[in-house]
Amino acid sequence: MENRKPFIIANWKMHKTILEAVQFIRGYREHLKAHPAHVALAVPFTAIFASAEAAAGSPLMIGAQNMHEAAQGAFTGEVSAAMLKDAGASFVLLGHSERRRLFGEDDALINRKALRALECGLKPFICVGEMTSEHDKGRNIVKEQLLHCLRDLTPEQLRQCVISYEPIWAIGTGLLASPEYVQEIRQMSQELLVEHWGVEVVDRVPILYGGSVTAENAKEFICRSNVDGLLVGGASLSLASFMQIVDNVTEQT
Ligand code: 13P
Repeated sequence: MENRKPFIIANWKMHKTILEAVQFIRGYREHLKAHPAHVALAVPFTAIFASAEAAAGSPLMIGAQNMHEAAQGAFTGEVSAAMLKDAGASFVLLGHSERRRLFGEDDALINRKALRALECGLKPFICVGEMTSEHDKGRNIVKEQLLHCLRDLTPEQLRQCVISYEPIWAIGTGLLASPEYVQEIRQMSQELLVEHWGVEVVDRVPILYGGSVTAENAKEFICRSNVDGLLVGGASLSLASFMQIVDNVTEQT
């Protein structure tokens, strides 16, 4: 990748108790002396407050994996953007494929969530990605998803966002997308942003990749695909493998 500070984001999904999260963060802080990457942990709701406390005073960002679109109300079991912010989150993942596939979330809902997150001062990490590995179809699906998820955002709001391309067939399968194809998707996404929001947003909206990233493939992948960072699921659960990814990726940036 070019000379930018990469993003390395852990998505812990439904893993880790409060104690496990805090131990991970303490271990991470002990081991990492420099901060050559933007490192962030998307932790379960229950661990946000304690994780934010454990990360306080370090550049490690703590965020959530989902939120409700409404400001407040009778939505039993849901959590609002303001509550996340209050608990110490600085960002939120929106539209992860597991939310889309298992909980029926669509682009219009993700768009409303993004607007609400921005209103509450949370940085939205908007996830897009196609279901199959058919490349031509993938390009169009991603285009449509971006246009709908980012609808009505001003250029100023868009500059607060991060986009993560996660082809569904690559998530948790061991099937890493080809770096050349991801580079094409990144370029297509940048062109779309320029066309709809103007040229000034393009270098300010990082475009990440997620799907079967490991300590072994992270470095080569990021170099060859030129993405701005990685969203890591399974390989972010162990401190050793997550640290290895951070070390490997930042070695050559
Ligand atoms: P894996 O890294 O386990 O494939 O998961 C990717 C992902 O869903 C990140 O959000």
